Amino acid sequence: MVVAHTWNAAELVELDRAHLLHPVSNLAAVQRDGALILVRGEDVWVWDAEGNRYLDGFAGLWNVNVGHGRAELAEAAAEQMRELAFSPTFFGLATPPAIELAAKLAELFPDPINTFQFTSGGAESNETALKIARYSWWLKGRPEKTKILSRKMGYHGIAMGALAATGIPAYHEGFGPQTPGFVHLSAPYDYRNGEGLSEAEFVAKLVAELEETIAREGADTIAAMIGEPVQGAGGVVVPPEGYWHAVAPVLKAHNILLIFDEVICGFGRTGNMFGMQTYGETPDIVSFAKGITSGYVPLGGVGLSDEVADTLRGADRMFMHGFTYSGHPAACAVALPNIRIIEEEGLPANAAAGGAYLLGRLRELEGHPRVGNVRGKGLMAMVEVVADTATKAKFDPSFNLGVKLTAATRARGLIVRGTNDGVAIAPPLTIQKAELDLIAEAVAAAIDEATG
Ligand SMILES: Cc1ncc(COP(=O)(O)O)c(C=O)c1O
Repeated sequence: MVVAHTWNAAELVELDRAHLLHPVSNLAAVQRDGALILVRGEDVWVWDAEGNRYLDGFAGLWNVNVGHGRAELAEAAAEQMRELAFSPTFFGLATPPAIELAAKLAELFPDPINTFQFTSGGAESNETALKIARYSWWLKGRPEKTKILSRKMGYHGIAMGALAATGIPAYHEGFGPQTPGFVHLSAPYDYRNGEGLSEAEFVAKLVAELEETIAREGADTIAAMIGEPVQGAGGVVVPPEGYWHAVAPVLKAHNILLIFDEVICGFGRTGNMFGMQTYGETPDIVSFAKGITSGYVPLGGVGLSDEVADTLRGADRMFMHGFTYSGHPAACAVALPNIRIIEEEGLPANAAAGGAYLLGRLRELEGHPRVGNVRGKGLMAMVEVVADTATKAKFDPSFNLGVKLTAATRARGLIVRGTNDGVAIAPPLTIQKAELDLIAEAVAAAIDEATG
């Protein structure tokens, strides 16, 4: 049955103003301008309550990997809800979808990652990863190994523990005091941190900082380092060649666990199923969310190496961590066909090819007087917009570049993330060449308008 909804757009905007608090939004601007209310989606396209069509150049929030409107995912959720709407995985309980999904993930992730606990999203996944890192050392009789290394420009979610690992100052302002025990390293951000250095020299500089930090803090006090294979929300920071290959052995030599945050990179976005495959390093713990269900229902989780899992399972005691919705059966039932679509339609390969094409188109903007840097990996890309390309000076915050870029792209029928640093792009992995051309052209015109 097809239900045709009709919306009173003006009424919805008023109700939104009165009652909905928007995350990571300028709340005064939302009050002034009204929210953009989306009501329908089909592949890379979404429609607002007034019937206007937009290209979803941000895949929702880096997550609608298979595109909008996949009826089979809705059917999978409905079927599971009819059969058994809910059971926890607490107290040794389980359901077929949670078990089947864990087994499928064991097949997909490189060995030795074979054991999984589920959550409802990225922040919960990182809380879980950080707590399991500490707990595994505690079980091994090393309770002093608790500190977490992370990186500036890293984004790991904004619940308290995940926020502490997040290295973007704007997310911390007004939410202090900061959770202790977190140390932020430099981002592998070539444009501003690697100036004048070759890739190899830049990697050496970052590794030297890591080694100095470990020496200063004491390896015996450090549980883990967490990092996104490619930093997403911090500005699509693509690490220099060889970075992860150089970092991983330093951590191993000091008995520091490596946690990859694959919340954005996972499930195809960087051109392989997982970012860890793009960079050829397997972590001890991996966190994921977003693309595992393409956002159709909330789901996340962590994967553990056999060594970490054995440490946890070897203790004949209660493991006191998890969430009501760890392994929600309907969410897991959606993840399974979602992953099947990613595999059957070859979406990681499309992300690699489409991403290379998009990056080529965006690089045509190099030389533009307001474009400082263009970078990307797979279908995540960033056009960094600056006030002055020679000095790399940013626009003053009062210029409200992000608000202007958002308005200028939306006016061209494109949804991307406009920030005071530029435009971030991450469309569904199903996107085709003609649609990538639309993105490149709209972004170029929007930068002209916003900065002109
Ligand atoms: C790399 C990364 N980790 C964690 C998160 C947090 O996920 P959530 O918003 O589902 O808590 C995000 C969200 O964008 C993310 O990009």
